[in-house]
Amino acid sequence: MKKLVAVLLIMMMLFSLTACAAEPKEDALPTIGVTIYKYDDNFMSFVRRAIQTAAEGKAVLEMNDSQNSQATQNDQVDTMISKGAKALAINLVDPQAAEAIIAKAKVADLPVVFFNKEPEATVLASYDKAWYVGTTSAESGIIQGELVTDMWNANPDWDRNGDGVMSYVLLKGEPGHPDAEARTKYVIETVVANGIEVEELELQTGMWDSVKGKELMDAWISKHGDSIEMVICNNDGMALGAIQSLNASGYFGADKFMPVVGVDAIPDALEEIKAGRMVGTVLNDAKNQGGATLDLALNVALGKDPLDGTSWKFDDNKAVRVPYVGVTIDNIEFAEDAYK
Ligand code: BGC
Repeated sequence: MKKLVAVLLIMMMLFSLTACAAEPKEDALPTIGVTIYKYDDNFMSFVRRAIQTAAEGKAVLEMNDSQNSQATQNDQVDTMISKGAKALAINLVDPQAAEAIIAKAKVADLPVVFFNKEPEATVLASYDKAWYVGTTSAESGIIQGELVTDMWNANPDWDRNGDGVMSYVLLKGEPGHPDAEARTKYVIETVVANGIEVEELELQTGMWDSVKGKELMDAWISKHGDSIEMVICNNDGMALGAIQSLNASGYFGADKFMPVVGVDAIPDALEEIKAGRMVGTVLNDAKNQGGATLDLALNVALGKDPLDGTSWKFDDNKAVRVPYVGVTIDNIEFAEDAYK
């Protein structure tokens, strides 16, 4: 009997040893140090998820919430370097801080892939092991401007006072952020270039944030009321806040409407488009930007060419740029698929 128990025990041990050997070894995978400028950014939570999904079985991620503090992010970079990360994937808090991060990476001879907040081209060029994954910021403003133009022309009743002028309010993202600056500039330039006369009633920063977007919209509704004819938002997060405010003020009922446009095409915004409370947005492809960030970071962590085995391409500034796409109710399925 004792012999049988011993044999069984040995068999069990052998079995668990082989089971262990069959599991992929985490420490055999390269560690990639990732920072997200703040976890409670609507859009960035989708980019983060895309990076995590793409890393499954390929890399160990050291993921950090920089809590909107560049000082915190700098410390996180130091820690990741000392813990032996093989590459860094950095979503800057302050786009101007790329130089400081590059200085740290250079000392450790580590490659770094910046994403979402674009460093200045000269700064990126200053280190041969630095690259960028993002978009062409101006494109989102131009596409949003084309959407606004087409819909304004197709809906003459949106010109509430019939003066032929589009009176708008604009919720801007973080000042100094290349996306916020370019979207603000190009959306209006495009509308004007398309022959629409405009009047700016308000332009302020809502810092990409729903709550701030709602607060500003509350104030603008009490100040301008029905004089507002168009609400242009640099991102969907702020658009969602504006819609909440408009809803509370009786818009979107039987006889009151307000056109609201955003950028990102996050799932909550797509729901608003389907419900008729938002007229359009611009897909900012979180999945592909997160995927490309991981692809490049993994390649360079393994000492390969950043684009090895991928279909991404660099522009002249060592940047992979994922295209934006305009979204209305007519092609909403396309945007829904992009976030799956
Ligand atoms: C997105 C915003 C986001 C920002 C963060 C932009 O590209 O459109 O929603 O808050 O990136 O940096």
